[in-house]
Amino acid sequence: MTATHETSTPAADRDDAISGAEIRLEDVVKKYPGQKSPAVDSLSLTIPAGEIVMFVGPSGCGKTTSLKMINRLIEPTSGTIRIDGQDVRQQSPDQLRRHVGYVIQGGSLFPHMTVEKNIAIVPKLLGWDSARVSERVNDLLDLVGLDPAKYRGRYPRELSGGQQQRVGVARGLAADPPVLLMDEPFGAVDPITRQRLQDELLSIQRELRKTIVCVTHDIDEAIKLGDRIVILREGADIAQYDTPENVLAAPADDFVSDFVGSGSTLKQLSLARVAEVELSEWTTARVGEDTAEVIARAEQAGHGAVVVLDGRGRPLGWPWLRQLRNQRTVPTYDHEKLHTLDSRATLNDALDTMLTSTHGGAVVTGDRDQFLGVVDFTSVTDHMRQLEQAAETGGEARG
Ligand SMILES: Nc1ncnc2c1ncn2[C@@H]1O[C@H](COP(=O)(O)OP(=O)(O)OP(=O)(O)O)[C@@H](O)[C@H]1O
Ligand SMILES: [Mg+2]
Repeated sequence: MTATHETSTPAADRDDAISGAEIRLEDVVKKYPGQKSPAVDSLSLTIPAGEIVMFVGPSGCGKTTSLKMINRLIEPTSGTIRIDGQDVRQQSPDQLRRHVGYVIQGGSLFPHMTVEKNIAIVPKLLGWDSARVSERVNDLLDLVGLDPAKYRGRYPRELSGGQQQRVGVARGLAADPPVLLMDEPFGAVDPITRQRLQDELLSIQRELRKTIVCVTHDIDEAIKLGDRIVILREGADIAQYDTPENVLAAPADDFVSDFVGSGSTLKQLSLARVAEVELSEWTTARVGEDTAEVIARAEQAGHGAVVVLDGRGRPLGWPWLRQLRNQRTVPTYDHEKLHTLDSRATLNDALDTMLTSTHGGAVVTGDRDQFLGVVDFTSVTDHMRQLEQAAETGGEARG
C-alpha cells in the first residue's frame, strides 16, 4: 500500500465537477457536396454517460465525420444529436465549448503560444478570471503528469511528441466539459509513449468519469480503452456496438471477425489488467532520507533496489542499493526516465515494460501516479497462464 501523505487536491473548487453526459445520435446523415453515397448514412447510437466509447473501422468509413458532428465542427445533413437531452443545434458556441472538449492527433497546439496559453484558450473565451484560469492550468498539467512549474511557460516546440499530446488532452479538458471527443489522439507517438498516454487517459477517466468518444483504427487500442466499441463499415454503418469482451468472444459477422483479426485468445490477454495481478510490496524511500537507514530496511526485506517517492507518493526512480551506497541521502530522480505502469495497463503492456526493465518487474501506479507496488514477471506470466487455461476449459482437449 501507498504511504499516505497529506495531499491537497490542486483543484480547490470541486463543486463544478460534472460527470459525463449521455450523447444520442438519431438518424444522423452527412452527405458532402458531390458525394454519391453519404459519408454517414443514418447513424443512430446512444453513448452512455461516463463511458469511453471507441469508434473503429477502415479508413474513410466516416469516423471523423461522425465525431465532428457531435460538436458541430461539421453540420449534419439531417438527423439529431443530443447531449444530455439537448439538441446540439440549439446550443450557442459557448455552450458547446463548455460541454464538449476536443483532442486530435499531436495535440495540435498553437506554436506561438506557451503551454499555459494553449490550455487557457477555452476558459478565457468563457470569461474566467485569471486566478481561476491559472489554477485550472496547474491542476490540468498535474492531472496529465506534467510538472506545472517546469512546463507551463514552455512553447510546444520545446516539448516531446508525447508531452504535446498530454497538453492537448489538458486543453480538451480545460473547461471541465462532460464530453470529450478524441480523434486518433495517440496515433503519432512511439509505442511506449502511446501506451503511457493510454494508461494516463484511463487513470484520468477513473477520476473524472467523462463521456469520451474516441476514434482509432487500432483495434487493440479500442479493446484496451473502450467500455464499448463501435465497429463501423463504410457509410458509418454499425457492424457491432458492444463491449470489448463481446466483440472478441462473439463477433457479429465476418466483417467484424476480420477486423478484430485472428489470435483472439491472445487478444483476450489484452483485456486483462495489471490491477488483477497481485502486486508485491516494495521498500520505498523518500528523497533526502538517510541512505544507511533505507539500505538497512531494503536488506531486511530482501530487496536489492528501492522505489524512491516524491513528497506526494509518486515514484521517481528505482535505484539499486549499490547505487545508493556512495550517497549520504537519497537523491532525487527524473521520473520521466522511470517507465511505470498504470494499474489499468494491460498484461501485454506489462510484459513489454518488463522486457525493457533490468529489474524483472515494473513499478505500478494508480490515480495521480501514486505508487501502488511492483508487479513481477512471474506473477504476470502465471496470471496469463491461468487465463489461457480458463479460456480453454470446455474447448478441445489439450495435448
Ligand atoms: N470535406 C469533405 N468533402 C468531401 N468528402 C469528404 C470530406 N471529408 C470527408 N469526406 C469523405 O467522407 C468519407 C468519410 O470520411 P472520414 O474523414 O469521416 O473518414 P474516417 O473514417 O475518419 O477515415 P480515416 O480513418 O482515414 O481518418 C470519406 O469517403 C471521405 O473521402
Ligand atoms: Mg478520420
